[in-house]
Amino acid sequence: MIKFNKYYPNEFAKLRDAGKISAKCLDYITDKIKPGISTQEIDEMCVHFLQKHNACSAPLFYRGFPKSICTSVNHVVCHGIPCDKILKNGDIINVDVTSLVDGFHGDTSRTFCVGKVSIKAKNLVETTREALNRSIKILKPGIHLGDIGNEIQTYVEKKGYSVVRDFCGHGVGRAFHEEPNILHYGKKGTGPKLQEGMVFTIEPMINAGKCDTKVLNDGWTAVTKDKSLSAQFEHTVGITNNGYEIFTIS
Ligand code: MF3
Ligand code: CO
Ligand code: CO
Repeated sequence: MIKFNKYYPNEFAKLRDAGKISAKCLDYITDKIKPGISTQEIDEMCVHFLQKHNACSAPLFYRGFPKSICTSVNHVVCHGIPCDKILKNGDIINVDVTSLVDGFHGDTSRTFCVGKVSIKAKNLVETTREALNRSIKILKPGIHLGDIGNEIQTYVEKKGYSVVRDFCGHGVGRAFHEEPNILHYGKKGTGPKLQEGMVFTIEPMINAGKCDTKVLNDGWTAVTKDKSLSAQFEHTVGITNNGYEIFTIS
């Protein structure tokens, strides 16, 4: 039996509030991500935005994570720690924001292009964005968890990219990470069926090269083993009686 928290309409309303603030935070930083800015400065801008909207940052001190957001540049797959690293023209950077508002989490990330990026990088970013969107469009009660991963995997592998296996999406709501795990690869018709009231993230990490990753000595930063570029997009979604709601849309 699948284990998950079922959320009710009054809770969907709160998830909507939290999701919107996280999405608006990403909107707020979009035109500020330019060559010359540091990942630490992006962290500070997000902190400022969240404070102004009476939201807390969930990552700060989560299992010892030292900053308020994750900033993952180029071959960093996820969980990059903001620091004095300066972004340069041609970089890609994923910014992952999770706000905590009135007891509910909104978890979302986007990959941004810094200045003018290569066509290769641009294609990877757009394919990852599209893979997430395609996997969301199929959501409704009764589909299988494996259908989500299958949608992502078939779409990106056709383009020669690989799906990261070492990290996955997750249930989310009152807690930052809840059951079940949401894999970004899989077979159609496998796994438990989705039910109304489920709330989870889909957050595919897609590599230009091989899927293998390793975590650096800081205990957080995950990188591609082959140093290939990696992109990611994430939304928090809820399953409704006949489809889905995206909470982290601005
Ligand atoms: N926001 C990330 C996710 O999508 C988790 C970050 S955990 C942290 O699940 F500790 F690294 F912040
Ligand atoms: Co997440
Ligand atoms: Co996230």
